[in-house]
Amino acid sequence: MCGIVGYIGKNNRAGEVLLDGLKRLEYRGYDSAGMCVMDEDRQQTFKAIGKVSMLEKKIAKSCVESNIGIAHTRWATHGKPSIKNAHPHTSGKIHLVHNGIIENYQQLKQDLANKGHKFYSQTDSEVVAHLIDEYNKKYDFEDSVTHALTEVRGAYALVILHEDEPQKMIVVRNSSPLVIGVADSEFIVASDASAIIQHTSRVVYLDDGEIAVMTPDTYYVKTFSGKNKRKKEQILDWNDEQAKKEGYAHFMLKEIFEQPESVSDALRGRIIAKDGMAKLGGLTEVEKQLRTIERIVIVSCGTSYCAGLVGEYMLEEYAGIPTEVEYASEFRYRKPLVDKKTAVLAISQSGETADTLAAIREAKNKGALTLGIVNAVSSTIARETDAGVYNHAGPEIAVASTKAFTSQLSILVLLTVFLGRQRNMSLTMGKRILSELQRIPKKIDQIFEGEKDIKRIAKKYSKYDSMFYLGRKYNFPIAVEGALKIKEISYIHAEGYPSGEMKHGPIALIDKDFPSVVLAPKDSVYEKTISTIEEIKARSGKVVAIATVGSKDIENIANDVIYIPKTLEMLTPLLMVIPLQLLAYYAGVTKGYDVDQPRNLAKSVTVE
Ligand code: F6R
Repeated sequence: MCGIVGYIGKNNRAGEVLLDGLKRLEYRGYDSAGMCVMDEDRQQTFKAIGKVSMLEKKIAKSCVESNIGIAHTRWATHGKPSIKNAHPHTSGKIHLVHNGIIENYQQLKQDLANKGHKFYSQTDSEVVAHLIDEYNKKYDFEDSVTHALTEVRGAYALVILHEDEPQKMIVVRNSSPLVIGVADSEFIVASDASAIIQHTSRVVYLDDGEIAVMTPDTYYVKTFSGKNKRKKEQILDWNDEQAKKEGYAHFMLKEIFEQPESVSDALRGRIIAKDGMAKLGGLTEVEKQLRTIERIVIVSCGTSYCAGLVGEYMLEEYAGIPTEVEYASEFRYRKPLVDKKTAVLAISQSGETADTLAAIREAKNKGALTLGIVNAVSSTIARETDAGVYNHAGPEIAVASTKAFTSQLSILVLLTVFLGRQRNMSLTMGKRILSELQRIPKKIDQIFEGEKDIKRIAKKYSKYDSMFYLGRKYNFPIAVEGALKIKEISYIHAEGYPSGEMKHGPIALIDKDFPSVVLAPKDSVYEKTISTIEEIKARSGKVVAIATVGSKDIENIANDVIYIPKTLEMLTPLLMVIPLQLLAYYAGVTKGYDVDQPRNLAKSVTVE
């Protein structure tokens, strides 16, 4: 889990492009950063612990003007954050950056040490540099890389340079993401397109098992076994502006406020109002097969897992299909019972989450139909599933997922209508859900009108060490997501719990210093939720209630109330989560934390 960038061109701007790329990829990890640039006569390597700004200070003006270079921002897996463990790693004249994990590095390291190699870091990555260097005693640069790869097991995206060949850059991909940006007389490679879009919108996605050999003028792609591959260029419709903060203090806040737009984007062109039907182009090819599906298993992680939980309620109630939600990390190691009649649906913002990808591969092996709800276009999960639906939410830069979540929920509603209408859902019900869904973006905007109040409440509760987030039915998953959000951003210990389970144990924790956020929309379980609030109040617990506009009675029992507009019960999660995102954001800001890049986290978890 790291961000890597490589540059080769003719414009002497390797240093500046690499540094800019690292800043844009910083969300992938920020334990250390490093860069290596070279020209015909010399090679320079810079490394710094911490964020890219530390590296920038170190480089200052001492960086040579160069036409080739590689850079890396690290999320530590093997070896603690340190200068020695920072990339690029070097052996002899070989320099490389790596994202992923080399599974057999210990064995390789031992073999290479026996041959006289000296290692400087504790990383798995350095071993690959030594291995290529070892082969370079016998073979040229390119063949050394190919030979080395036959011995390496694991997940890796690599960008490799050789001091004697400053006109060549070799790029490798196996189970870790890598994109090539094609511009006029230069190429930029990166872990994702956010480091590329400001230079060019023309991109080529490398697939697993592919090597690109690049010079300033051209490049070619071959497989690990040496077979040449013709790659198709794609044009990205993400512009540079989309990846910037646009005046917001943080990407997270910007992305929270983008939700009316991202929900609209998820629905655009996908509703046939007169038929009460959803049109999901990505599912056309499997439409017939979907009619015969008897069961759905959703696999995902973190926030995407919470979206899946909401999906379970929707799909069972409205499409009538038995649905289960599994942590992808568990699914991959169980003996999942799936077959041809099961659709396994992966939900992933990045499309690169290693656990979710492995779960999908396992499901495929077992003959299930695999589907995806993915934001990152052409990401690995998007490419490996049989069919799927893109979010079109644009890049999500803040580590904490917000707009991707409501976008995922929107698509789950569309999917529910699509599958429900294939089965027993009436035209009237289809129309009703879809027309109410189209009103959600405006209703999210209405919640933003209460931002000041939410900010005040967040400040008030940010002083507590622990909190409960409680919800029932459709809003139980939102309680889990709300708790996850406040944990990530403000480091407050929070538990997302079903309200009804409280009395079976956790209620023992309640006292005046253990507040609860209770999700209390005016739905079919409203009265029961009110009882939960009463139980908490009877034990001196403080309550922040999130209620539907008009539920004035709740003000008499809760300490603080935040209101959301009225909508269908199944759609309340789309509104309920908005105040919870803002609560987490403002609690984190109040405590002075880096909300866009919380400690210990990374945006895209491409390792186990
Ligand atoms: C939480 C968060 C993570 C991700 C999880 C899955 O705010 O961002 O919990 O939701 O790592 O990531 P994707 O959706 O990219 O598979």
